[in-house]
Amino acid sequence: MKIKSAEFVISNTDVFKCPKENLPEYAFIGRSNVGKSSLINMLTNHKSLAKTSGKPGKTQLINHFIINKNWFLVDLPGYGYASVSKDKRKTFQKFIKDYFNKRMQLACTFVLIDSRHAPQKIDLEFMEFLGINGIPFCIVFTKADKLNKSTLPKNIEIYKKELLEYWEELPTYFISSSTDKTGREEILDFIQNVNDS
Ligand code: GTP
Ligand code: MG
Repeated sequence: MKIKSAEFVISNTDVFKCPKENLPEYAFIGRSNVGKSSLINMLTNHKSLAKTSGKPGKTQLINHFIINKNWFLVDLPGYGYASVSKDKRKTFQKFIKDYFNKRMQLACTFVLIDSRHAPQKIDLEFMEFLGINGIPFCIVFTKADKLNKSTLPKNIEIYKKELLEYWEELPTYFISSSTDKTGREEILDFIQNVNDS
């Protein structure tokens, strides 16, 4: 799919203040620092449409970006460790859960997993939450450029095995690197297919 336009629309903490248009949207979620905002920039070919940082806890709001004037990408705060206070983290958790429970326009969620790390309970539990609530999701294994050619497939295999302990079928998954644009076409084609269905 060709990205003809990508524009910031609104940031907020209240799901009911998100854009009212009935357009499909795709949310990016995962641990702080996993690369959610960088992936949005990579997909849209923008350097800093979504704000990124080396320090976990950069994205603190629900951020809507309108793409090609007919669908949204949504950048969310991370879960897990972040350089923010406990109170702030609690507030994030509340509005993130609200977003997933109440946002009717959500077409699919991308759960981002750092491809360097062993499966983490917090991610598996988040996917379980999505599954229980019937919220469609895919996995994106991020930062693939940081691994050598033999470690990357090994780590993915370990993750798949772990997922099959919880799920009968593997969710759709992608491998990405925001630095060398790995996975860009595949993720955009997937979105196009969901938009068209
Ligand atoms: P929060 O908003 O804090 O939850 O983080 P985030 O998940 O949005 O992560 P962000 O996109 O801000 O990236 C975190 C750090 O990882 C930054 O220093 C990015 O440059 C780096 N990064 C993100 N994606 C990649 C990638 O694919 N490869 C490499 N090498 N670095 C990446
Ligand atoms: Mg971010």
